[in-house]
Amino acid sequence: MAKIPRDLVDAVRERTDIVAVVSRHVSLQKKGRSFTGLCPFHQEKTPSFHVIPDKQIYHCFGCQAGGDVFRFLMTIEGLSFIEAVKELAGPVGLEVEERELTPAERKQLRARATAFDVLEAAARQYEAWLWTGPAGAPAREYLERRELTAETIRAARLGYVPQGWSRLLDALHRDGFDASQVAEVGLARPSDRGQGHYDFLRERVIIPIRDERGRVIAFGGRILEGDGPKYLNTPESQLYQKSHTLYGLDTARQAIQQKGRAVVVEGYFDVISLQQAGFGEALATCGTALTAEHLEKIRRLARDVVLVMDADEAGLRAAEKTLPMFIDAGISAWRVNLPGAKDPDELVRHEGPEAFEKALQEREPLFEWVVQRKLDAFGTSTMGRERALEEVVPLLAKVRDGTVTSRVARRAGIPEEIVLDRIRQHLRQARSPEGPPPEAAPSPVVPAWRPHVDATHLLWLLVHRYDEVADVLARVDPSLLDDHAPIRPVVARLLSGEPVAALLPDLSDPVLQRTVQAVVARTRLYEPEEAVHAVLELLARMARPRIGARLTTAKGDYERSVGRGEMEAALVTLQRTKALQQMEKALDRAVRADDIETLLGLLGDLTTPPSDTSGV
Ligand code: UTP
Ligand code: MN
Repeated sequence: MAKIPRDLVDAVRERTDIVAVVSRHVSLQKKGRSFTGLCPFHQEKTPSFHVIPDKQIYHCFGCQAGGDVFRFLMTIEGLSFIEAVKELAGPVGLEVEERELTPAERKQLRARATAFDVLEAAARQYEAWLWTGPAGAPAREYLERRELTAETIRAARLGYVPQGWSRLLDALHRDGFDASQVAEVGLARPSDRGQGHYDFLRERVIIPIRDERGRVIAFGGRILEGDGPKYLNTPESQLYQKSHTLYGLDTARQAIQQKGRAVVVEGYFDVISLQQAGFGEALATCGTALTAEHLEKIRRLARDVVLVMDADEAGLRAAEKTLPMFIDAGISAWRVNLPGAKDPDELVRHEGPEAFEKALQEREPLFEWVVQRKLDAFGTSTMGRERALEEVVPLLAKVRDGTVTSRVARRAGIPEEIVLDRIRQHLRQARSPEGPPPEAAPSPVVPAWRPHVDATHLLWLLVHRYDEVADVLARVDPSLLDDHAPIRPVVARLLSGEPVAALLPDLSDPVLQRTVQAVVARTRLYEPEEAVHAVLELLARMARPRIGARLTTAKGDYERSVGRGEMEAALVTLQRTKALQQMEKALDRAVRADDIETLLGLLGDLTTPPSDTSGV
């Protein structure tokens, strides 16, 4: 650990123009000797946020936030003090030299060490053992056999602890940590006889588990060979709760946002292997079922979650149980079966990333899979189908999505009108006095709007990359944004060239206001040269469900025609289906090729009602 000399900090502060730095996040207006703007740290409609260049400080009279330029960056960009100083030193021509601490200073710091410090020191030690000397060779060979590259291993920060009873304890002791600190984070146990401690993880490959900010919060240790549990995991603690932790989330964020999907797998090694194969969006739970808290973390990043779960009965039942949580979170959930019952790690290694991507493409909506499971259980007699329907009606009432309802009706072989009737009946019962208590009933009102990642990215592009994206967006029919209705007026005003600060005070919906504010405050997302591609991708993503809906209708019409023996009509619908599938492919191609004209043409077709009888 290093410290930055005080006078260097002062010099960086003095040479930095605080107005310029704050302006990257807040639009400021000069007012006498200070500058004012809307506070980025709380919601307000009239500016009470002041930057006072003479004093090199900022202050908000509304929420009392304030400090120097370093504090500003720390708060708004989540940087540490050292990171903030480093970020500002370069531009003013100063270099931050980190001075090594004296042993006395180090000891003093250690006494105040937090659990994070102990865990981080342990992670470094484990990594060092893996990479150095003959002691680490068995683990290096093991990881090589699993076809992991050095780069992957370093990125995952895998480590190793060789044979011995107190290797970690001894190493951390040399670093100034005592046994009780090591025991507190679960890495040492008090020994049975007499005093002293021993290491919890011994002769294992070490997998550090990090929180969403990349801090080590726990460890898994995998056995190399021989007897004993495959994994030992450090216990849950204040820092580490399995129900809130997704392995891989810290590094997956960007890939999830870019691909618009998260892929949830079972094991640590599945995540690591998938990352290496180009699936940075892979996440795993830490050996537990998915929880609503996990979904809450994913919801902020992506609309689609693909589950790649074990096909054993326990795994299937766990997947089925997650459906209501997905519905509550407003996430589309999908399920994937891997061929040959392989796990993702094996599949990408033996058959390549293409095989895994193919499996992902063949995903099935979780809802339909659950219906099918019930049909399989109850049988396809009229009675069996009725029972299956009965079990999913409460969920259908929750989803409130016509496409899901009609697909489920078709799957169960029950006319859609009957299914709709059951849903209405269910909602009535849920609300009636004899029905279940109101808090158990699904809310009859449509849930409040929550910003979806597509909407925020679109706003971001309009705010920060206006020159690049405005021309394209101006040519898109606004009805494409129907799923994100609350942002439509904002998009229109931004498109007309109005500065974002001017429209912020008009936003009466606090969720919308916070969303736009966060978009303004976020500095980095897409580079200028990525902007057009990003906007095309977003538009295609918003359009795709429309093709899906039309396909569903077309397929239904087809089946009906075949059922009635009207082959002429069936052929027509079949052609319609093909045309829609081609449209889907053309959309993907246009995005990949950055072909603006073709994409806009396709969007035009999708924002006008279909020309034939079907209706969307
Ligand atoms: P798996 O047995 O599928 O492990 O358990 P894996 O990650 O694929 O490991 P490899 O490929 O055999 O090396 C899935 C997850 O269940 C938890 C871990 O989180 C593991 O990643 N688990 C499994 C344990 O915590 N303890 C165990 O003994 C086994
Ligand atoms: Mn495995």
